[in-house]
Amino acid sequence: MAYSCMRCSAGAGAGASAVRRGAAAMRAPAALSFVRCGLRRPAAAAAAKGVKAGMDAGVENPARSAAPSKVENGLPSEITLDDFEDLNPLSENDESTVTITVVGASGDLAKKKIFPALFALYYEDCLPKHFTIFGYARSKMTDDELRNMVSRTLTCRIDKRENCNEKMEEFLKRCFYHSGQYDSEEHFRDLDKKLKQHEGSSVSNRLFYLSIPPNIFLDVVKCASVSASSVNGWTRVIVEKPFGRDSDSSAALTRGLKQYLVEDQIFRIDHYLGKELVENLSVLRFSNLVFEPLWSRQYIRNVQLIFSEDFGTEGRGGYFDRYGIIRDIMQNHLLQILALFAMETPISLEAEDIRNEKVKVLRSMKPLQLDDVVIGQYKSHTKGGTTYPGYIDDKTVPNDSLTPTFAAAALFINNARWDGVPFLMKAGKALHTKGAEIRVQFRHVPGNLYKRSFGTDLDTATNELVIRVQPDEAIYLKINNKIPGLGMRLDRSKLNLHYAARYSKEIPDAYERLLLDAIEGERRLFIRSDELDAAWELFTPLLKELEEKRIAPELYPYGSRGPVGAHYLAAKYNVRWGDLTTEHKA
Ligand code: BG6
Repeated sequence: MAYSCMRCSAGAGAGASAVRRGAAAMRAPAALSFVRCGLRRPAAAAAAKGVKAGMDAGVENPARSAAPSKVENGLPSEITLDDFEDLNPLSENDESTVTITVVGASGDLAKKKIFPALFALYYEDCLPKHFTIFGYARSKMTDDELRNMVSRTLTCRIDKRENCNEKMEEFLKRCFYHSGQYDSEEHFRDLDKKLKQHEGSSVSNRLFYLSIPPNIFLDVVKCASVSASSVNGWTRVIVEKPFGRDSDSSAALTRGLKQYLVEDQIFRIDHYLGKELVENLSVLRFSNLVFEPLWSRQYIRNVQLIFSEDFGTEGRGGYFDRYGIIRDIMQNHLLQILALFAMETPISLEAEDIRNEKVKVLRSMKPLQLDDVVIGQYKSHTKGGTTYPGYIDDKTVPNDSLTPTFAAAALFINNARWDGVPFLMKAGKALHTKGAEIRVQFRHVPGNLYKRSFGTDLDTATNELVIRVQPDEAIYLKINNKIPGLGMRLDRSKLNLHYAARYSKEIPDAYERLLLDAIEGERRLFIRSDELDAAWELFTPLLKELEEKRIAPELYPYGSRGPVGAHYLAAKYNVRWGDLTTEHKA
C-alpha cells in the first residue's frame, strides 16, 4: 500500500511544507510517499509569489542590453535575450521569477556544491518555472566561460536517467555571470540591471548565496541590499559558516547583517541539517512508537556523535588554523545534530516550533569543562612507503600552531529527560576512516536471564542504535539473538535498514534540500540567531580557556584512530566509543 501525499498537488506553501516532511522514496515498496518535486510545483510557485518585501532598493527600468552569449564544446551555442525570453516567457500577469545569485561563483564551494545542487534541482523539476542563476565574483569571465566552468562540475548524478545532457544544456542557458567587486555598490547596481532584464515586469524574488569568506559578508550584504534587492518580491540571503569565532564576533556579525536584513531574510546554512539521515531523525523518533518511549535517561546510557575524515586540511590550512575542529565541526554540525536528537516533541513541524525546542536544549546544556575535553593534532606518518604530512607541514599553517584537528568532549543536558546522560562528541581530521554517525547505547537489561552467555562484559551485550549519516547511509539496531540450533548460544546481530539495499532512489546532496528550502522560504533547517548565540555560549568559554592557557594538543599519527586521551575521557563516564568495536558493514 502506498499513501500518496504529493507535495506539488497539495498546493500550498506552508501547509505543504509541513506535510512533506518525512520523505520516503517514491519507488520503495509500501512507502509513505511525499513527493517533493517532479512536477511543475504550485508549492514553489506559491512560495515564490509569497511577496515578502525584503531589502529595499532603488528601482530602475529594465535595461535590455544583455549581450548574446555562446558556449562551446557541445554546450548551448548562441543564446540571445530573445532566446532567453522563450525559455522564460513572462508577461505582466505571469508568475513570479526567482534569481539565484551565487556570490563567490568561482570558489570551491560554488563549483563543487552549489551549482551541481542547483542543476540537480533543475533536473528534478524542483526549481520554479522562471528562474535564472547568476554567478558573481571578482574575476573577469564571460557568461560562456562561467557555463564552461560550471559544466565541468555538473554530473548526471541522477544516474541512468534520460536526457541528462539536454537538461544540462537547458540549465546552462539559464546561467549568467557578472564580474564585480564585493564592496562596490555600483557593481551591484550593474548586476541589478541585468537581473531586471531577466525578470521583466513580474514579481521578482532574489536569493543571494554568499559563498565567500566571512570578512566580506557585510560588504556584500550592504551592497546587495542597497543596490540589488528586489523591489516587489522577496530577497533572501544564504550565509555559510563560520558565523564568527566566538560569542562576541558572532553577535557583531548578526548585528551587522541586521542593519540590512531582517532575521527572516537570513538563512544560516548548516549543511549537516540537510543530510538525509539527520533529516530522518525526527521521523524515526516521532513516528515510531518503539523509539520515543526509550528516548530518555531511563533507557539510554550515552549518546555518541562521531565525525571523522581520512584526510587532513589539504589546501585549507590557512582557513582552518583560525578556527580549529571545535569551531569547524563541533559547535555547529555535531551540536545541531545533538539538539535535534535531544529536543522535546515540538508542537508542530513548523520551523519556529522546531527551532524553539532546539534552543531549549542548547540553553539547558551544562557549561563545558576543560577536563571534559581532549584535543589532538595530527602529525606526519609513514605507512607502506608513503609519508603523510602532519598538520604543521602545511605551508599555510604556522610551525608552532596549537590548533586542534581533533577533539572529543563530554557534554551534558541539565533537564529532566537527559540528566546525567553523557553526550560524547568526537571529531577529527586525518583519521583512519571517513564517516559521521550517531550511536545510542542503551542501558543493560536489568536481571538479564542470559547474563551467563555474555561473560563479564555486559556492555558488549547492550542494545545499540546506530544512525550512519555517511557514507553508505544506514540505521541499524544491535540486538542479542539466539544462534539457530539445539543449544543456547547467543549472538550479536543487527536489525539493519541499509539505504542502498532498501531504496533505489539516490540520496540528494544536503545542498539540494537546503537550497530548495531557501527558495521556498522554509526555515526549519536553518539556524536562527538565538540558536547560534546559544551554541556559541556553550563553546566560547572553553575555546578561550584553551587558547589563553595555550593547551597543547595531543599528537596523533595521520591515519590513526586519534589521541588515546579520547578513550580516557569516555572511560571517565564508563563509556566505550562504539565506532572502535569491530563491526561488519551492512
Ligand atoms: C565543513 C567543514 O563544514 O564540513 C569541513 O568546514 C568539512 O572542514 C566538511 O570537511 C565536511 O562535510 P561533509 O559533508 O563532506 O561531511
